[in-house]
This record gives sequence, structure tokens and C-alpha cells, in this order.
Amino acid sequence: MSAASATAMREVPVPACPRVWETGGVALDITASRPDPALLDLPWSMPLEDWPADRLAALPRGISRHVVRFVKLSGRILAIKEIKAELAVREYYMLRNLGRLGLPCVEPFAVVSGRVDAAGAPLDACLVTRHLQFSLPYRALYSQSLRPDTAARLIDALAVLLVRLHLAGFWWGDVSLSNTLFVRDAGAFAAYLVDAETGELRERLSDGQREHDLDIARVNIAGELFDLEAGGLLHGEDPIDTSERIVHRYRELWDELTAAETFGSGERWRVEDRIRRLNDIGFDVDELATVTDLGGTSIFIQPKVVDAGHHSRRLLRLTGLDVEEGQARRLLNDLDSFRAATDRQGEDEELVAHDWLADIYEPITRSVPPRMRGKLEPAELFHEILEHRWYMAELAGQDIRIEDATVDYVANVLPSKPEEKSILGVDTTEIPVHAVDTQELPVVRRTAR
Ligand SMILES: Nc1ncnc2c1ncn2[C@@H]1O[C@H](COP(=O)(O)OP(=O)(O)OP(=O)(O)O)[C@@H](O)[C@H]1O
Ligand SMILES: [Mg+2]
Repeated sequence: MSAASATAMREVPVPACPRVWETGGVALDITASRPDPALLDLPWSMPLEDWPADRLAALPRGISRHVVRFVKLSGRILAIKEIKAELAVREYYMLRNLGRLGLPCVEPFAVVSGRVDAAGAPLDACLVTRHLQFSLPYRALYSQSLRPDTAARLIDALAVLLVRLHLAGFWWGDVSLSNTLFVRDAGAFAAYLVDAETGELRERLSDGQREHDLDIARVNIAGELFDLEAGGLLHGEDPIDTSERIVHRYRELWDELTAAETFGSGERWRVEDRIRRLNDIGFDVDELATVTDLGGTSIFIQPKVVDAGHHSRRLLRLTGLDVEEGQARRLLNDLDSFRAATDRQGEDEELVAHDWLADIYEPITRSVPPRMRGKLEPAELFHEILEHRWYMAELAGQDIRIEDATVDYVANVLPSKPEEKSILGVDTTEIPVHAVDTQELPVVRRTAR
């Protein structure tokens, strides 16, 4: 970093007007809530496309109109998108607002504008976001060893994301697999929004606006799947049928979350039942409108505010582990088995959770050799070991200790998995990586989440 840039470094309050930074006589505008001085070391006077390979992190990325590159900076990886300044600023604040609403999306880091090249000609601004660790673009997931239902699992995750965004009043306007990142979630996927450029945040969305987004989703997904099919990457899934799935899954979930129900006053248990059903699919009810009619013979209920992440919040409260929803559910099941196996049903749940963490979860996830830790996140690894134990037990016809399942998994399954955390050092070319999907673990039946 130059001496000039070091002296120019100061915290910029947000929301803030972009601040001007002097770097080698060139004024850069940087908008950031916590600007990192190292940002100034990046070669902003070069078009992003020409940035030298030694600055870049070669990670898989989706198809995009704009130039996008990943860089390693102060021990983290950032995604940089070259885009018109007003769009960059708009997307930056949109992502911040979505993050504040607790919605799954990439985290904005900075907007850098006022760029000029060596000859003094203006260059587009850059939107900088934090790279979402262990995330995969859908095209990187496709490879010869894919499970046949991968597209369906991706679409299920996207449907959950779209419902959550809509409940919060966000109209996306460009719903697609390319604008979504996928993170493994206990054998399924969790979807994160990556491209908020076209989005609008409102008080609430009308049915017409929601339908419009759904229509965009269906058409875009069909196009993306046809593209995969043309490349020989789609294994037996029909692009049209699969793209219709977004509509069905979205409607199912939307209805489950928002539908009104009326029942007789003698059936009060149905209020509890509705809440439990919502909890089962991973949502908490914050507010429930309950109206009894004048004669007191019927009760009307409708969830008003629903919050996603029921299991992950519960696990966080009990253990401090912050993981995806499906992983949390899986870990909580294991915690329940631990409680039963150690005969501690009557004991305080937090104490049992503490012991489970110290005696089971931490030793197991730490027993993986460090060189293999970049392959899967600890919670996904734990989930895979549980699946592996189940498979081994079925083959052996008897219970298997988790320690033994771990040894077998680390020796026989994990080595063949790709490194998903990051692949650093070389140039970033379009979709260079075909990640191998979760290896088939025979006869493991998954229940729908
Ligand atoms: N923070 C991030 N973490 C991981 N990957 C990212 C991140 N930001 C961008 N990417 C990757 O870069 C790709 C392109 O980003 P993005 O969709 O924002 O570009 P775009 O040019 O606006 O796209 P479009 O053509 O849809 O307008 C994404 O699909 C994703 O793979
Ligand atoms: Mg995009």
C-alpha cells in the first residue's frame, strides 16, 4: 500500500456519500461501511478483464453479462463486478438492506468508482462483495458423477429463497439459477441471491408481482437447463418439466406459509398443529392472526409473520453453531439420539447440548486431517458421516460407532471429494470447475424437507 493511501484511510460512516481517496494522484470514490486499506492496492486503473493472474483466485463462477473476478485480499476472498457506478451503488445498498432483513444473499463490501486507466480514460465502477464460502454456481455442480435429481434439488432450494424474498417484499426481476449460489445443506442445497441488480424492495408484493417473478424464473430456468442439455450435462431431466417445478414448489410453500384456515371451536389443537407444521418445514410463526366468529363456533387463523430458520436458530441457541437449516435439523436429530442414548431426557437441554458438542460434534469434525478440511464445511461433513454410518450399519446389520464411521469415511470417501472451499492461484476462466456432487451413498433415503 502506498503512503498516500495509508494516510487517506478512515472509517466511512454508512449510509455515506462516497469518499474520495488519493491513490498515486488518481482520485477513487470508495463507498464501504468498513473500508479495508488493502483495497487501495488493487490495480483499479486496469480494466477488470486485464487484472494479472497473481491477483486472482480461480473459483467457479456463473455466467454473467458483466466481468466478474475473485481476488484474495487480507485473508478473505472478494468478488468484484465491473458495472456502471449508479447500478453498483444501487446494488450495494440493496444487498445491505436484504442482509439486514436476514435474507440469504451475498454480503456487499464496497463500491469503487472514479476509476480511470493509465491514459486517463474513465473505467466503469466496481461492486465488491464477499465471496460466499463453499458456494457453488449451478453449472459448476454438473459433472459426470452427478446424482440424477440435482436440478430438482437446486430448484427446491431456489423456491424456498424466492418465497422468503417475496415474504419480505423483494421483487427480484431476474430470477435464475445463474443469479443464485448454492451451498450444500445436509444432502440438499440452500440458495443465496447473488445478483440484486434488477430487484425492488417494497412494503409488500401483490399477487401479480409474485406471479411475474415466478414466470421469469420458469422461463430462465428452462433456458438454463436447455443449455446444459445441449452441452450433454443434463442426465435424464426434462428441462420443461423441471422448470415447471419452481412454480409447484413455490406455490406449495407459499400456501403452507400464508393460507388462512377456519375450523370449529372444539378443534383448538389445530392452531398448535399449524405451528408445528410450519416448524417442520423450517419456519417459525412470529404472529398468528386468530379471529373467533360472533357465535364462538368457528376460529379463523392465518400466519401473519413467518421467519425462516427455525432449526438453525434453535441449534445456535443451544450450541452456538451457525449452520444451514437442513444441517441444523440433522444435528438436532443427532443431539436427540445422544440424549436418548445417554438417558438424559429429564435434564436441561442446554447442558446436554453442551456435552454433545464437546463429546461428539467437535471431536468428530476435528478428526479430519487439516489438508482435507477445505473439502466440505464441518456441518456438512458431520451430516455425511452420519449418512455413512447409517449405510455401514445397514451393510453390517448392526450399530456402528460414529468414531468408526468417521475413520472409514475419511479413509474411503472424503479423499475423492473436490476441494470446495477455494482453489487459489491461477487465472479465472469461465466455469473452469466441475465439482463432483455428493458421492452416492447407496440406499440412503432422504425425506423431503
Ligand atoms: N460474492 C460472490 N460470491 C460467490 N460468487 C459470486 C459472488 N459475486 C458474484 N459471483 C459469481 O459471479 C457470477 C456473476 O455475478 P452477477 O450475476 O452479479 O453478474 P451479472 O453480470 O450482473 O449477471 P447478469 O448477466 O445476470 O446481469 C455469479 O453467478 C456468481 O457465480
Ligand atoms: Mg447475474
